[in-house]
Amino acid sequence: MHIDVVSVFPEYFHILELSLLGKAQQSGLLQLRVHNLRDWTHDVHHSVDDTPVGGGAGMVMKPETWAECLDEVLPQTAATSHAKPILIFPNPSAPLFTQEVAQELSQAPSIAFGCGRYEGIDARVADYYRTIGMPDVNTRCTLDVREYSIGDYVLNGGEVAVCVMIEAITRLIPGFMGNPESIVKESYTGEPLLEYPQYTRPTTWRGISVPPILTSGDHAKVDRFRRDKSLEKTSVLRPDLIQCLDCHALDKADRKTLIALGWNVSGAHPVRSHNTH
Ligand code: ADE
Repeated sequence: MHIDVVSVFPEYFHILELSLLGKAQQSGLLQLRVHNLRDWTHDVHHSVDDTPVGGGAGMVMKPETWAECLDEVLPQTAATSHAKPILIFPNPSAPLFTQEVAQELSQAPSIAFGCGRYEGIDARVADYYRTIGMPDVNTRCTLDVREYSIGDYVLNGGEVAVCVMIEAITRLIPGFMGNPESIVKESYTGEPLLEYPQYTRPTTWRGISVPPILTSGDHAKVDRFRRDKSLEKTSVLRPDLIQCLDCHALDKADRKTLIALGWNVSGAHPVRSHNTH
């Protein structure tokens, strides 16, 4: 996969040289190019922002600097893709970036990210590349421009959000993980349940023993125990996810556990029983 990132703080992306992401870059599985937006400025102060039209606090990133940069960078992103090139702007006022989105984007041959700072990027930039696209005659095409938030909180800029998205996307590229099985059973893949608690040796640590069933060697019982723990944890911490489950896809034991946890499973999706808090 080929990833281009534009930012006024390219140093943020040094962390992507660590661990599995670093290895993926060394092996060529991931080609990451980080561009400094200030390289496309023309004034002595390398300014990238200006006051908001209409008034208000803070500064807004100038469309012209972004456009000069993207006009040059995007044809490189698009070169590796036959499909519509994807351009993503992290934005706290946007749809949530989910595991499903990460899964979809992990199939893309290339993605470009534009990191906004201050009050964000002039809104015309996203509209321009969505509707008019790249100006170069050889690469002329509109882009699949998207905006995503990584959560309901506000960061100082898009850099950390883009690091999060890149990590979530690239670890799903086939061949990225040493053991691909570890992806199959984790939270948010497939059924939206939180992952059960995991333990390692020693089986008793500071007087606390792991649940004895895990050392029983009975795989069916271990699977059932873990599934029940997932249901229990999700019911307590993320009841919104339980409400999304398809009751018809639940087995008899799942139903029994959910009923004991205070859910009514007779409809299409679980609903809280009235006799529980
Ligand atoms: N920029 C600032 N806050 C953000 C968030 N929560 N998600 C994505 N981009 C952001």
